[in-house]
Formats: sequence, C-alpha cells, structure tokens
Amino acid sequence: MSVSLEVRVLATPQELFQAAAKMFVSKANAAVERQGRFTVALSGGSTPKGLYTLLATDFQSSIPWERIFFFWGDERHVPPGHPDSNYRMAYTALLSKVPVPPQNVFRIPAEDQNPDAVAEAYEKTLRGFFQLRPGQLPRFDLLLLGMGPDGHTASLFPGTRALEERARLVAPNWVEKFKAYRITLTLPALNHSACIVFLVSGEDKATTLRSVLEGNSSAEQLPASMVRPTDGRLLWLLDRTAAGGLKLVP
Ligand code: 6PG
Repeated sequence: MSVSLEVRVLATPQELFQAAAKMFVSKANAAVERQGRFTVALSGGSTPKGLYTLLATDFQSSIPWERIFFFWGDERHVPPGHPDSNYRMAYTALLSKVPVPPQNVFRIPAEDQNPDAVAEAYEKTLRGFFQLRPGQLPRFDLLLLGMGPDGHTASLFPGTRALEERARLVAPNWVEKFKAYRITLTLPALNHSACIVFLVSGEDKATTLRSVLEGNSSAEQLPASMVRPTDGRLLWLLDRTAAGGLKLVP
C-alpha cells in the first residue's frame, strides 16, 4: 500500500484550473498510451466548472477524447436537465463541446424517483464496466473531488449514513440540511482510485482545510479527511484563499 500526499497552492482560481487541466492532459495521455483508455470520475459543485471549461477550450486538442470514459463521484437526486444536476454542469461546460463518444459517458441515472434504485443501477454500471467480481472495487485512473466548508466531499456529508457504508460502491444518502437525497460513491469506491485530486478554492474553506490537512482531534469527523487512496496518489490543488489557514504553506 502506498499513498503519497501532495499539496499545491496556486495564486488564483484561474491558475488552479490551469494546473488541474495540465494534470488532466498529462494523466489522460499517459493512461491511453499505457492501457488504451482513461477513466475519470468527475466532481460536481461549482469549482470544477473552471477546469471543465479549460479542457473544452485551451486544452481540447491535447486530449484523446475518444479513449476517455466519464463517470461521476456523486449526483443530486434530480433529472439530468435540472439546474442542480452535476451531469448537467459537466455536459454544459465540457461534454457538449468535445468529441467524446456518448457511449463513453456514464451518468448517474438520478431521474429515477427511488434513490436506492439509482444507486443500485449505478453500482451495476460500475461493476459491468470494470468487470468486477464480488468484493472487487472500481479503480478510476483519476477521481476529481471538491470539498465543502463543512468538510463534505462527493455527497458524503458529516454525520450521514453513507459515510459508514463499506459494502456498497454507490449509496443513496439523505442530507438533512437539504431535506433531499444525494447519490454518492462510498469511501471504499472513492479510495480505490489510482489518483485522487481535490480542487479547493475560496476563503470559506480555509478553516476546514486546515483541520483536514494539518489534522486535529476533530479532523476524523470530516469526510474529506477520510479520503485516502489505498494505493495511489492524493493531490490537493488549492488556491491561495483556500490555503490561507495552513501553517505548512509559506
Ligand atoms: C456536489 C459536489 C460536492 C462539491 C462540494 C464543493 O455535488 O456538490 O460533489 O462534493 O465538490 O460541495 O463544491 P464547490 O466546489 O462548488 O465549492
């Protein structure tokens, strides 16, 4: 088991997106060269939009789109055309603008009214694509994650049931503060990725980020601090405002 933790601080959000885009291009080309494909699980929220836009524009010609397979780390329990949909955000900013074959895009079917059925369906998709035997975990070449000010990541929120799930790959998760379900990959599925990259921007995350990265007694309660690849690379790409609270950063 090997885990490397890296933290890079970029001066501005735009520089953060540039660094993330260069990392994406490098990993995508290396994976396609090595194994003929690149599997990536996208993050939702708003921060990644800057990255997705760069990939669709400045970096589009550097990426082997036809060999890339897209998944999501989580989804809101809404149809794909809903303004809150993580799929919709990625489709609008990226997937609708690049020549990725539609059959390479595996969105979470969150239009189903039954959140448990959504999770089961997506787990079946992952098991089929990665040809998993019982007990095996998917291994994304790249997993993109964000972090909320409360330390949540994907749709694993502090104190929610899915945080404890260790058998399922994908679980429904009731989030009381939103009075809504989310669908999320579970920690075992997330942590089996080859490379996990957090993109964190904004001053509102600085305090939590310090807890997660510089550890303190309450850190273990934070979902983002529970993301540790079992055998892979963990990279935190931060902008200076998010990194403001870190002691380790000059
Ligand atoms: C979601 C995301 C979520 C997100 C964080 C940070 O569905 O909202 O998966 O985990 O990454 O909430 O969101 P921002 O990047 O918008 O701050």
